[in-house]
Amino acid sequence: MFLHGTARINDKGHLEIGGCDTVDLAREFGTPLYIVDEALVRQRAREFREAFERTGLRFQVAYASKAFCVMAMCRLAEEEGLSLDVVSGGELHTALKAGFPPERIHFHGNNKTPDEIAMALDAEIGCFVVDNFVELMLLDAMAAERGRRVNMLLRVTPGVEAHTHDFIATGKQDSKFGFDLESGAAHEAVRQALERGHLELIGVHSHIGSQIFEVEGFRMAAEKIMNFAVDVREKWGRTFSVLNFGGGFGIRYVEGDRPLPPGTYVQAIADAVITACKASGYPLPEVWIEPGRSIVGDAGTTLYTVGTYKEISGIRKYVAVDGGMTDNPRPALYGAKYEAVLANRANEPASETVSVAGKCCESGDMLIWDLPLPPVKPGDLLAVFCTGAYNYAMASNYNRIPRPAVVFVRDGAADLVVARETYDDIVSLDRIPERMRKQAVNR
Ligand code: LLP
Repeated sequence: MFLHGTARINDKGHLEIGGCDTVDLAREFGTPLYIVDEALVRQRAREFREAFERTGLRFQVAYASKAFCVMAMCRLAEEEGLSLDVVSGGELHTALKAGFPPERIHFHGNNKTPDEIAMALDAEIGCFVVDNFVELMLLDAMAAERGRRVNMLLRVTPGVEAHTHDFIATGKQDSKFGFDLESGAAHEAVRQALERGHLELIGVHSHIGSQIFEVEGFRMAAEKIMNFAVDVREKWGRTFSVLNFGGGFGIRYVEGDRPLPPGTYVQAIADAVITACKASGYPLPEVWIEPGRSIVGDAGTTLYTVGTYKEISGIRKYVAVDGGMTDNPRPALYGAKYEAVLANRANEPASETVSVAGKCCESGDMLIWDLPLPPVKPGDLLAVFCTGAYNYAMASNYNRIPRPAVVFVRDGAADLVVARETYDDIVSLDRIPERMRKQAVNR
């Protein structure tokens, strides 16, 4: 069994995280419950920052809040000296409500609405990552209305795509995001940005993929971006002061996943930028990155209560838990794999293989196939590891199942950072038209 961060088995044979016995957490907060190991999140944030400090470059590590965006997480990001990448009005609102410094917020997205742009302009965020020509014009016009000049990066598609171990130089133009480098769209965007009176083009952004275990894709992207920067300087006389390489740094979900330490990715990017700058006499830019999953992913654990089971002789034993694709859609969406243990009997040897089903009315609602466990009984607690990223963030109310609570644990204390949804929360936005109201009330 692989235990992340502060997780350990205590002398009762229970899984403990952040010094909190998970059996006690289940009793106090109910299940399903997302548990976040606060020390591990802070450690990951520091690993990225310290790696940059070693390179001597100026930098920003912007937490990609899409991975897990709640107010307490924004506070934590601020405390750890991170910047914040937001991609919607909702994420921006969360950050601002949490008191996150607006000048450290970067706004992404391929279809920022005028309302969202207005919100971000009025909050005076640090930087817009402009994705397309429509946005370029709109942002300029809206900044002009406010008599302002706003910092922007251009999002470019560098023609490198990376997924786990595969990275390919695609010269890929077919993406919904950003300006293509190959076709000349990126140069045209630079021309337009420089022409506009209210945009301050400070640099470029690229993001090559997710759950990447190799540095090669980042190195290739850095080279392409540096070539572009050098061309832009020659052609348009503009020197970029910021290069942003996005996120995508991999984490260990299951046995066999071999992520690199955060510092290795950072060093590879820094080396590629520094080498290219030396070769072309380009002034060293600030380097920004946007890790999401690698900040919060392995710090999250979801605790479920086992309910029913069903054995199909000679075929499979299904064990059902009190959550599923509503709190973790990743297995159903991406075929994502997870590891899990019985939190209340974590020392017992595995003696059967079960498949963990969610409670949604959908056959595809399976969390883990073929998981070795001790004999499972109703009432046992199942802890699924590495659910910190893109779980709560992607949770739904399918089947009108309330979303779980989230707790931060550290040093033996647990703090509720998101309350469990209630059934009344679920109906709170419903409206019954007047003409139907009587029937409903009479029932
Ligand atoms: N920056 C940009 C521009 C991105 O598009 C993303 C992720 C990130 C940063 C953060 O990437 P990370 O470090 O977390 O890999 N829902 C999917 C992941 C979608 C990621 C989309 N963009 C999943 O559950 O695997």
